[in-house]
Parts: sequence; C-alpha cells; structure tokens
Amino acid sequence: MFDRLTEQPADALLAIIGLYRADPRPEKIDLGVGVFRDSTGRTPVMAAVKAAETRLLATQDSKSYLGPEGDRDFAALTAELALGPALAADPRLVALQTPGGGGALRLAAELAVAANPEGRIWMGTPTWPNHGDIFRVARLKVETYRAHDIDRQCLLFDEMTAAFNRAERGDLVLIHGCCHNPTGIDLDPAQWAELTRIVVARGLVPLIDFAYQGLGDGLEDDAGGLRGMLAAVPEAMVAYSCDKNFALYRDRVGALFVQAADAREAGLARATALSLARVNWSMPPDHGAAAVRVVLQDTELQAQWREELREMQARLRTIRQGLAANTPAFAPLATGNGLFATLPLSGNQVAALRRDHAVYVVGSGRCNLAGLNQQNLSRFAEALADVGCGSVPASATGEAAQ
Ligand code: LMR
Repeated sequence: MFDRLTEQPADALLAIIGLYRADPRPEKIDLGVGVFRDSTGRTPVMAAVKAAETRLLATQDSKSYLGPEGDRDFAALTAELALGPALAADPRLVALQTPGGGGALRLAAELAVAANPEGRIWMGTPTWPNHGDIFRVARLKVETYRAHDIDRQCLLFDEMTAAFNRAERGDLVLIHGCCHNPTGIDLDPAQWAELTRIVVARGLVPLIDFAYQGLGDGLEDDAGGLRGMLAAVPEAMVAYSCDKNFALYRDRVGALFVQAADAREAGLARATALSLARVNWSMPPDHGAAAVRVVLQDTELQAQWREELREMQARLRTIRQGLAANTPAFAPLATGNGLFATLPLSGNQVAALRRDHAVYVVGSGRCNLAGLNQQNLSRFAEALADVGCGSVPASATGEAAQ
C-alpha cells in the first residue's frame, strides 16, 4: 500500500528546527520557526503559566473527557479577551476550544465547506505557508492575490481591496488579525474600516487568523480592527491561538469563534463544528487550555501574565528599533509588528546565510526577529550585507497608509 505514496516536500518552517540543532557552530543565529525568544535566546515557560500548572497539578481531581468543545470556561474567557465582552456575550457567538490556531483554521474551513461545498477563500500572499494547505485539504477553493510587496516592504492595499471587490457573496476572505505572518506589516485602523465596508457591502465572510494578540501594539490595540469588523458584519470566524501569547506552543492551545447571523444559525454552526471536531480530533488536548483558564480566572495570575506579555511585546519593539538604529538600511522594519519580517532574499542568499554565517532564516526570506539580541544584531546585519541584501527601501511604509 505505502509504495503508492509520493515523497513530500519538507515543511518550510519546521525543517529549520532540525538544521539549526545539527549545526555545531556556537555563533549560530536562529531566525526560523516562529517562537518568542528572550535576550538569551530561550523560549521560557511564562511564570504565570507555570504557577497555573502548579495549581492544576495540586487541584485537578479528574482527567475524564470534556467533550469535543473542550474547556467551556477557557473558550468563554478567551472569546472575551479576543473579542471584548459585548461580542463574546452575544448569543450569535459560538466559542469552541481547538488544538492550536491550526486546528481552529482547519475547523473553520471544514465548517465553511459543510455550509457550502463550493466554498471559496481569498488569501493574500505571502502568508503563513500552512494556510493554503489547510484550506485546500479541507476542500475550500483557494483564490490568491498579491497583498505585500517584499522589495518595497509594503502592504498592497489597493490589490487587497480589488480582490475583496472581486469576491462574491458568501466567499471567505482571510485576514491576519495582527502581527502579520510572515511580513509584520499590519492593516491600520482606516484600512480595517475600509475592508469592513467592502465585506458588508459584498456579503463576504471574514476568517480572521488571530494568533499573536498582545505581541504587536498590546492586547486591546491588537484586537481593535477585528472587533470593529465583527461588530459590523453578520457572519465571521476567528481562529485564535494562545500558543504565542501564553508561550504554550507544544501544548496546542487555540479556539474557534464563529459569529452567525442569529442565535438559531449559531446553534447550527455549533452543532456542525462539534461533529466535525469529533471526527477530526474527537476532543482537544486539555492541559494548556486549563492552564490558560486558571490564569484568566485569577486576578493576580492574570496581572502577572499581562505584565510578562507586555515585556515580550516591548522586547520585540526594542529589537526592531535596535535593528533600525544599528543598520539604517533596515529602518522600515522598525514600524512592523510582532515576530516576523520578510526580507528580499533569494534562495541562494538564504543558503549562503546558513552556510557562510550560520544564520538560519526561512527559505522565503522570513526572519523571526525574536532570535536577535544586542550580541548578534550587528553580525546579522553584516551577514545580510555579505550575501548582498544591503537594505530595504525606506519609502515603502508610505504606501501602507494610502
Ligand atoms: C511559524 O509560523 O513559524 C509558527 O506558526 C510555527 C508553525 O506551526 O508554522
């Protein structure tokens, strides 16, 4: 049977983990997979999460099944965190725990196909490489359009609105909630408002990937655009992740929020999503979501978590500013958000960075800036210059505001 299978391409992001580990050079720099790193290069367990886990260990008296919806309190608390109290409490809203943001995206795609087997999604490129694969495997038809210009480091907002205007009633449109992966170039409030206007006018359904809340401009500001959109549109879905903002990566902690046109349709969406979850993963893993619930239910732990997250966000901002100060040629990166920037690097340049400088970036040129610190920042800039990536143009950010 298995001889009929074909070779699979290595996962662009995950392959770097192994390559980096195998490199014996002590000066190596890991800008690959998207995890936060502190100034010593570690991806620590957050103290508030550790305290919640300790509490869980002492008090949890059963590991019996919770059901396909997972931890209901976790889902309600994260819905409130992401969407704000009014949208989260709306009877049109369904909130379900999922295995990470990836599980939420898969469930959202399958729910859309269950509602409309001809369902389509519009996806701007570049985007997280797994987006297209998840949607296609779920049998959504994927339409792509160019949304970012890497050479000029800018959002192509006109192309985005043109694509939204080509989309037809009922089509999904993928939107990054904040900290765009892989460019770090986000929508501004005026652009959110304009997209909201088109979504309403054309009867589109936003699918918002919201995986980095708190790592851009802060918990509330990062949610502003999507909250405004959800308040205006009848139907939307939000794929939420706590993998990054609670640093729970391997525990796979996510949620799907579905906003339906009315409470009856919300009930249908909920029942369908639950039966899809049941045949996919049956029930989501509990531990990480339970730890998030404990943090969010406890005033002191929540305050501690908010402070730790604020420090993570500040570090990302400092790295961006440090890069700009150290290397004026990369100044435009200072205005981006979150972990990522994508530099105009060819495959050969990426390979040369790895081979000659022990600098690991993704083949697309995506760099996880959290891998930089005061010690390695100038070496990174020198390595870029050495492979011929001397600058990103400073003009570019202007177009994002048009
Ligand atoms: C990334 O973009 O590097 C992370 O989201 C990890 C992943 O699953 O791709």
